[in-house]
Amino acid sequence: MIALGIETSCDETGISVSKDGKILSSEISSSVHLHAKYGGIVPEIASRYHIEYLMDVAEAAVRKSGVRYRDVDVIGVTYGPGLCGSLLVGISFAKALALALKKPLVGVNHIAAHLYANFIRDNAFSQPRHPFMGLVISGGHTSLYLCKSITSFKLVARTQDDAVGEAFDKVAKILGLAYPGGPIIEKMAAAYRGTDYIKFTKPNLGAGSLDFSFSGIKTAVLYYTEKNKIDEYQKKKIAYSFQKTVFDFITERAVSACKKFKVNRLVVGGGVAANKALTACLAEKCKSKNITVFIPGIKYCLDNGAMVAVFAELLYKKGKKTKMNLTAEPNLEGVLCR
Ligand code: KG4
Ligand code: ZN
Repeated sequence: MIALGIETSCDETGISVSKDGKILSSEISSSVHLHAKYGGIVPEIASRYHIEYLMDVAEAAVRKSGVRYRDVDVIGVTYGPGLCGSLLVGISFAKALALALKKPLVGVNHIAAHLYANFIRDNAFSQPRHPFMGLVISGGHTSLYLCKSITSFKLVARTQDDAVGEAFDKVAKILGLAYPGGPIIEKMAAAYRGTDYIKFTKPNLGAGSLDFSFSGIKTAVLYYTEKNKIDEYQKKKIAYSFQKTVFDFITERAVSACKKFKVNRLVVGGGVAANKALTACLAEKCKSKNITVFIPGIKYCLDNGAMVAVFAELLYKKGKKTKMNLTAEPNLEGVLCR
């Protein structure tokens, strides 16, 4: 089966062609450089960028895949969560393609697609099986989902304030670093050569809670920078300490969720999963608990069309097909597809 996946939920215009779970092409054009000077995404700039570049990205993806538009069996598109204007551009494009090619449409949940990026048939990575605990760590979400089958998606924990990627971006801003902050904080943390670290307190959300919270840690970083002289060494130390606190906390939560719901597979997705220190932290703590961790290759952690294409293939094989009245659902959470 050949799928064409369209991803426009935020600042990445992504289109991919997949065949039976393998990626034939995955093209991405990002408007991140246009948002950098504002220190965050400006929704209108993102939507305008999608409408300007979507056709070029699609043409490149189809050309590089070696298949023709008419060979495509199903069109997958992200319909939420995300920025409303950006989602609408991708959805309208997907509908136009579906009508022109007389092919079925599958509207997919962006968060679930991040998890199902692990089902991309990439020789370098083994694939998970159900049931598993899904951990989504991105710029907009930090949540845990119990996934018992391809069509079962149960929210078990979420962040009560900031998403983890958002916290990375805000801490980078406090330290005077560029946007997006995640990759920069990772580099600064890796360059820290000290032996001690600042013990930022982990959030206390009550006994038994699996939820997340990051605004307290972010505020602790802010207070620390106000009370201390911040030179390059201090910036590295803060980056290291912040990252360690956050990743220890996320790992503890993920392990507790696996234990509580009696699953021994942890499937991770989203932009923050691209961080090598997180991968190491999860691998170390999960190994001793007999939990197998799945993380996609870096290019499939960040927003991309490939995860949408492969997820649409899986859903279509299960009989899912979306009506042409599909619309954007910016706050979509526990629903897999329409
Ligand atoms: O999944 P994604 O591409 O978009 C959303 O769906 O939000 O995630 C983007 C987020 C940004 O907040 C960015 O700072 C963070 O992922 N990020 C990272 C890294 N690469 C991207 N955070 C930590 N370490 C990284 N290497
Ligand atoms: Zn994302």
